[in-house]
Amino acid sequence: MAHEKNISKAVIKRLPRYYRFLGELLNQGVTRISSRLLSEKMGITASQIRQDLNCFGGFGQQGYGYNVNVLYEEIASILGLDRQVDAILIGAGNLGRAVANHMEFEQRGFRLIGIFDENPALIGQTIKGVLVRSTDKIEPFCRVYHPTAAILCIPKTVTKEISDRLIDAGVKGFWNFSHYDLALNQKERGIVVENVHMSDSLMTLSYELKTLLSEEN
Ligand code: NAI
Repeated sequence: MAHEKNISKAVIKRLPRYYRFLGELLNQGVTRISSRLLSEKMGITASQIRQDLNCFGGFGQQGYGYNVNVLYEEIASILGLDRQVDAILIGAGNLGRAVANHMEFEQRGFRLIGIFDENPALIGQTIKGVLVRSTDKIEPFCRVYHPTAAILCIPKTVTKEISDRLIDAGVKGFWNFSHYDLALNQKERGIVVENVHMSDSLMTLSYELKTLLSEEN
């Protein structure tokens, strides 16, 4: 796509929401939608939507609106959801199990091919059909299966050591839930990182509530 390289990070961050929303419209049998209606339903201004979608060629037509399916497929392609990247998950504790069980990886461009933990009680179990292996087996596994991404659900004290091992084993992308902030600007090393902190979202809610309640008083 000619315009794709210039899409800003801010727009990329909004694309999953458009994608989710357009998917719901498709499920309801909606085939086209105006930017005004899309704006009302998503709570984003129509001009913001036009600006966002123009970044990769628009697809809106005057008087017609957006073809929901075309836009859905285009966003999927920009996000890379039309191919699958192999991923492994490290840390099969409470969070790791929840992520493995509930995240629909295949629909989001990933395939979970291995899970690793150091706890002997977990090794040998399967989660969502994927075997939990010993952490010692990370390197031999990577030599055979070449996973590109890793999901980290381990304590922060071990994140640096494990991520260094994974980088040496060829992993390029980290979805990092541990509260150790893997440096974000790793692109020059050929590494990309998404640090996830649910607590950040909770603190944002705290701020919003504080503001709301002080306005009411
Ligand atoms: P947990 O204790 O239930 O699970 C951690 C798992 O990591 C255990 O199974 C343990 O055996 C394994 N582990 C420890 N060292 C390891 C190593 N060197 N190699 C492989 N596996 C290893 O903890 P939980 O609740 O699942 O949380 C996991 C991490 O996620 C913690 O660091 C926690 O603070 C963080 N967390 C982050 C959230 C977020 O929003 N980012 C939300 C909740 C938890």
